[in-house]
Amino acid sequence: MKMLITGGAGFIGSNFIFYMRRMHPDYDLVCVDKLTYAGNMETLAPVMGQPRFTFVRADIADRAAMYALFEAEKPDVVVNFAAESHVDRSIEAPAVFLQTNVQGTQVLLDASRKTGVRRYHQVSTDEVYGDLPLDRPDLFFTEKTPLRASSPYSASKAGADLLCGAYQRTYDMPITISRCSNNYGPYQFPEKLIPLMIANALEGKPLPVYGDGLNVRDWLYVEDHCAAIDLILEKGRVGQVYNIGGHNEQHNIDIVKAVLHILDKPESLITHVTDRKGHDRRYAIDPTFIHDELGWLPQTAFEDGIARTVRWYLDNKPWWEKIVSGEYRDYYERMYAHR
Ligand code: NAD
Ligand code: DAU
Repeated sequence: MKMLITGGAGFIGSNFIFYMRRMHPDYDLVCVDKLTYAGNMETLAPVMGQPRFTFVRADIADRAAMYALFEAEKPDVVVNFAAESHVDRSIEAPAVFLQTNVQGTQVLLDASRKTGVRRYHQVSTDEVYGDLPLDRPDLFFTEKTPLRASSPYSASKAGADLLCGAYQRTYDMPITISRCSNNYGPYQFPEKLIPLMIANALEGKPLPVYGDGLNVRDWLYVEDHCAAIDLILEKGRVGQVYNIGGHNEQHNIDIVKAVLHILDKPESLITHVTDRKGHDRRYAIDPTFIHDELGWLPQTAFEDGIARTVRWYLDNKPWWEKIVSGEYRDYYERMYAHR
């Protein structure tokens, strides 16, 4: 089995590579990544140079490069994690989101069709469903919820999902899609809520909470996401969308307080700042289908996962200190200085 994993130098892609090496040591893994600001070769250090692992630096939207790569490697399975993934950046500069998330997906679909892969899996997000009101805790996203994106990021992910559906139906391709809720865990880039709050708290900097902090996200430990994708690849039905989430809804402010509590830092570090434009109020996945059809259930309780995550950032300071002291500093200034 040869699996092509795109975006493997990022947060979830790298965790997926580590997971697959543990669970399927006999698989050949080929990771393709453009190494944008979010891709980090230090993350992949533990697998570089190992047998059955190959790294290729390339852009998924580069058609010639992808056709050549697919021709050379002839993967059985493609798992597409590669994306521009940060909502705030998509509000600032949407074009690259369409380039990578939509056109990149189309190139991968064309290459997959041309070489006849056994399965193409698209890693999507619950954000394609838009948001839910705070005062309707009875409502959840199911696989049948209509797509209603709010940000350029989620619109680009929804566009990619629609393309996958169209290629599956038109060309009868073996495509599956998963839509997961917010992930947390090791190797997440410190622009995202949890690692940003850990890094700021450790540096004694203010913790910028957007708006009233009452927005709700449904948090899942990254390894549980990886396990769900592995299961979909093995047992999932072609043409099917699978929602992935663990019924772990939390207000942002409570997440931030939990991080401060674990680090034994004062809540006075919390600063409410101007809200995100078009900020989605609540995400909440109904994971009934993947549980009933594939038997998937999350294994990591939030209390354990968040403690493990904070521990990881404490134990791996050089990994994120290098990021926050480099060009990311300019982004942070732009995004937060006048907020
Ligand atoms: P990330 O930003 O940490 O990593 C993205 C990776 O893709 C990076 O290594 C980057 O270099 C690479 N990449 C970007 N553009 C590329 C291109 N044109 N060609 C090749 N590689 C490119 O993102 P993440 O949080 O790991 O998310 C991975 C996937 O999972 C994305 O598709 C995202 O939409 C989806 N997702 C993320 C979450 C979450 O909570 N983080 C939840 C659900 C779904
Ligand atoms: O739901 C899945 C999605 O989760 C993925 O598709 C995205 O790739 C991923 O980035 C994530 O999107 P969010 O916008 O939910 O994640 P983020 O970590 O950026 O923000 C989480 C919440 O915290 C959101 O309500 C905004 C808020 N926030 C975020 C930052 C960075 C703050 O209050 N302050 C901050 O500084």
